[in-house]
Amino acid sequence: MSNYATPILTTDRLTLRPFTLDDAPDLLAVFSDPAVMHYWSSEPWTSVRDAEAMIEQALAGYREQSEVRFGIELAATGQLIGALNLHRFFPRNRRCEIGYALGSAHWGKGYASEALATGIDYAFHELRLNRIEADIDPRNTASGALLERLGFRKEGYMPERWFVHGEMADTVNYGLLRRYWDERK
Ligand SMILES: CC(C)(COP(=O)(O)OP(=O)(O)OC[C@H]1O[C@@H](n2cnc3c(N)ncnc32)[C@H](O)[C@@H]1OP(=O)(O)O)[C@@H](O)C(=O)NCCC(=O)NCCS
Repeated sequence: MSNYATPILTTDRLTLRPFTLDDAPDLLAVFSDPAVMHYWSSEPWTSVRDAEAMIEQALAGYREQSEVRFGIELAATGQLIGALNLHRFFPRNRRCEIGYALGSAHWGKGYASEALATGIDYAFHELRLNRIEADIDPRNTASGALLERLGFRKEGYMPERWFVHGEMADTVNYGLLRRYWDERK
């Protein structure tokens, strides 16, 4: 048992909260969209079973407190519009990886920045992590811009790291240290 609980966190416009199985249809709407999955490391989902499998993995993570997986909900309407994960924790070295996606109808409104800033604060100040890592496709400019806006620094490049959507894809490695984050405030 680890100590990585998934609480409910609120921002001005969003609620970050644990998933339930009732979220499967909304989650499928996000992850079945080819635009959302263009630079993701797997193909677009095709069935509600794909969503249920991800939620079951999240529920197991909640039980073990081994992964933090938030659904991102619009505070005004309660609609689930995306996901934010803190996973691959390495407790001894106080680090983890971050992953995120929003439904394409919700891009360009600052929701991802708002959600990630709150998740990162939680990771550094409640979970007492020191470092958060992200691994993105270099062509994913929206994701790179998001990370850089939050203070992540480019740390590495790994050619042909993934085989997805019928082709090899490269990785840019980003990292955010707690002290970079605190210096920005
Ligand atoms: C990566 C992803 C979450 C970024 O979403 P996003 O909407 O571009 O990011 P933000 O929520 O921070 O929004 C930033 C944009 O909103 C605009 N914006 C509007 N209101 C804003 C506000 N209140 N605060 C901040 N930005 C705001 C910004 O100007 C910026 O616009 P620009 O892209 O034209 O410069 C989204 O592209 C996505 O889900 N992609 C598919 C999944 C994916 O690739 N995930 C990463 C794989 S590792």
